[in-house]
Amino acid sequence: MAMKVLVTGGAGYIGSHTVLQLLLGGFEAVVIDNLDNSSEVAVKRVVELAGEFGGNLSFHKIDLRDKEALERVFASTKFDAVIHFAGLKAVGESVMKPLLYYDNNLVGTINLLEVMGSNGCKNLVFSSSATVYGWPKEVPCTEESPLRALNPYGRTKLFIEEICHDISVSDSSWNIILLRYFNPVGAHPSGFIGEDPRGIPNNLMPYIQQIAVGRRPSLTVFGNDYSTKDGTGVRDYIHVVDLADGHIAALKKLFDGSKIGCDVYNLGTGKGTSVLEMVEAFEKASGKKIPLVFAGRRPGDAGIVYASTEKADKELNWKAKYGIDEMCRDQWNWASSNPWGYESPDSPK
Ligand code: NAD
Ligand code: UFG
Repeated sequence: MAMKVLVTGGAGYIGSHTVLQLLLGGFEAVVIDNLDNSSEVAVKRVVELAGEFGGNLSFHKIDLRDKEALERVFASTKFDAVIHFAGLKAVGESVMKPLLYYDNNLVGTINLLEVMGSNGCKNLVFSSSATVYGWPKEVPCTEESPLRALNPYGRTKLFIEEICHDISVSDSSWNIILLRYFNPVGAHPSGFIGEDPRGIPNNLMPYIQQIAVGRRPSLTVFGNDYSTKDGTGVRDYIHVVDLADGHIAALKKLFDGSKIGCDVYNLGTGKGTSVLEMVEAFEKASGKKIPLVFAGRRPGDAGIVYASTEKADKELNWKAKYGIDEMCRDQWNWASSNPWGYESPDSPK
């Protein structure tokens, strides 16, 4: 019998890529998403890409804060594990609307954990973030590095990590893996699914991709006075398909019978790339010029962030395979064939 996995936020960017890898890996996936920052078209495309496995996916439009709806999903299916992606993720918006973030991310997660517990499903993989390292004093960031959230979004990740530790202490039958993602970019090599943020993108690669397809004029480079090779910020970009595979590795660990309690892993490549290096790689992949405007540092930005990936390599047997050239190639492949993402240019965003 195929393992059944509930995927919250499975219509979103990382979720849709992970659901595809789950289906191709022989899992059954049930996706719940309120489509706040995503489109059901992504779910339909995942079904198509999965071919003969597409029938193993079902979708429910549900908000995690609707506990009764969650109960109904758990009453209809016995899940072996949950992968929990659903959440709001825009740092700037979280500063403006902290209660929205605490309500959506924390209340949604507490509901999920309660319903999981009462239905005897105690295997969880949770999307945490490198944001919990704040401005790291030392790189690479190891899982033992000091934690410091700098904004309400980051605090929701830190609080959920703590909640997960607490429930694993209170009840030893929980097995929880917290995955701290570094900077997910790129798209499925088919160009059929990818990132489709609503409104003006906050993050570097979605912004660059919209310039390349003519939707925006230029990239504002936030700061060129960091102590880095060219003065611009350095990050650990990771191909979204590698990241998706990291979730399959985490599930395998949950199912291998070892006692986990609550454990945490970085998912990154271990390599730092500057903004200008990323722009150059994207220009090479797309053949498009990205006009730059240099500006001051973005408030709250760290200079250099990249991961130590040893723990995931050793204990999950997982390592990122792709480099920035493949990330940019696939980002461009997705953007050029879907310049308006999943919608048409006229649909409201
Ligand atoms: P995304 O916005 O594309 O996906 C999140 C999905 O969750 C969306 O489809 C959204 O509609 C859904 N959602 C939000 N609140 C919900 C609710 N209350 N009930 C049901 N569905 C809800 O974002 P993503 O980039 O795929 O990120 C997935 C997870 O990974 C998030 O938790 C995010 O914080 C975390 N993360 C993302 C990044 C990144 O840079 N993309 C980095 C680190 C961590
Ligand atoms: N940058 C620009 N111009 C832009 C956007 C970004 O110069 O228009 C620069 C930033 O200053 C930074 C780099 O590009 O040096 C990457 O910025 P992103 O916004 O793409 O990514 P961040 O590392 O700042 O943050 C993202 C998420 C966080 C998450 C973190 C790690 O927004 O929530 O990745 O996963 F915690």
